[in-house]
Amino acid sequence: MLHFKTSLNYFVFLQSKLSKTLPGKFMKYFPSDYFQYKNNELYCEGVSLKSIAGKFGTPVYVYSKKFFADRYLEFANAFKSINHKIFFAAKSNFNLNVIKIFYDLGSGIDVNSLGELYRALKIGADPQRLLLTGVGKTKDEIKAGIELGVLMIKAESLHEVYLINRIAGDLGKKAQVALRVNPDVDPQTHPYISTGLAENKFGISAADAMEIYIECSKLKNIEISGVDMHIGSQITSITPYLEAVSKMIGLIENLKTAGITINHFDIGGGMGVLYNDEELFTPLQLAEKLIPLFKQIDCDIFFEPGRFLTANGGALVAEVLYLKENMNKNFIVVDAAMNDLLRPSIYNAYHHTQPVIKNNNEDIIADIVGPVCESGDFIAKNRVISKLEQGDLLAVLSAGAYGMVMASNYNARRRAPEIIIDKDKFFLTRSRESYEHLLWDEQIISNLHS
Ligand SMILES: Cc1ncc(COP(=O)(O)O)c(C=O)c1O
Repeated sequence: MLHFKTSLNYFVFLQSKLSKTLPGKFMKYFPSDYFQYKNNELYCEGVSLKSIAGKFGTPVYVYSKKFFADRYLEFANAFKSINHKIFFAAKSNFNLNVIKIFYDLGSGIDVNSLGELYRALKIGADPQRLLLTGVGKTKDEIKAGIELGVLMIKAESLHEVYLINRIAGDLGKKAQVALRVNPDVDPQTHPYISTGLAENKFGISAADAMEIYIECSKLKNIEISGVDMHIGSQITSITPYLEAVSKMIGLIENLKTAGITINHFDIGGGMGVLYNDEELFTPLQLAEKLIPLFKQIDCDIFFEPGRFLTANGGALVAEVLYLKENMNKNFIVVDAAMNDLLRPSIYNAYHHTQPVIKNNNEDIIADIVGPVCESGDFIAKNRVISKLEQGDLLAVLSAGAYGMVMASNYNARRRAPEIIIDKDKFFLTRSRESYEHLLWDEQIISNLHS
């Protein structure tokens, strides 16, 4: 990635070579310009994580504003030679102030539900800078999108198009609609975040697209404005994009021949990020390959990046509760759990972990686990890490995307607070939940127990 200095890339490369000889992955310190040690203490920008943990307790999410801004500008600059719009995928991190950082930089917002739409409106977003997406939108969601006049509603089936047409008619409005087309390409990522294969639930099949577009063009209350795709997430090769974009350009040209004009082509999100030792492409490299293809068609290009803009801008800081050995296996029990960061449990995802205060202890191999009553509750398995003591702080990196947004109250645990760092200042953007929050509107019903 562009923001990792070349020397650090080389460092990662060396570490990845090393990982082949050590049990578990071994990357002792994660390369980052945003989370760095100063005098052996881990900082986010100019603020020590120890001070954040001291003030707000643990577990706590910490984000770097500079990371978010740098990645957004990196992406926007890569495509500056073409007419394009970026819509931050709020599903990756829907914290109000995180959304607002991107919005204020010029981004639109890709919202996937009424809840995300509500959040976008809360920051004062102009509906013309919103895309409404989602494979199973409810009537209420569609109605809200039309009433507000969002820039585009992305339909994923003919049934949905008919429903949008009917609701728009009832409201006496015309809805701007794009069809999400499933190009049937393999994004070579985890099956759970692969969305552009024919077997996935997303979009309309590429084979039926022409026919469905023609059917849509006959409906009175919708205006077909675009072609959309999103083939998956954490994609580490440009090839699937090239394949899918080429297919969609073929479709756009055929539509033009059939008299259907497409104003925008939305290629979705999906760019992979560094969690461990992945080989990645930069936005500039993606732009170099895709821009010549985009020039074949005469329409605006839309992007919906999420993970790329947020993942490595966030860390989850936890405290070590206990150390123990079971059958010669080391366990580090921390106070962050699967309810705080679900990715390791559901995708077996790798998140780099390192002590907030660097120590000179020997390295051990341990499972880093949380307090939730599930064997699937782990942050890392067989991780090589310098031996920690009870009360030490641990930073779980790359937690800015699909972290807090997937947090739950499982085991009646309160969700963690979120802090945004801007240079040497910190801002509490969401407090830790109280136990009262967990009982919101839940009461003992006396008649039930009489
Ligand atoms: C329609 C759509 N757009 C954009 C995204 C963002 O993807 P990513 O975070 O991988 O960039 C997603 C994520 O699943 C998505 O479903």
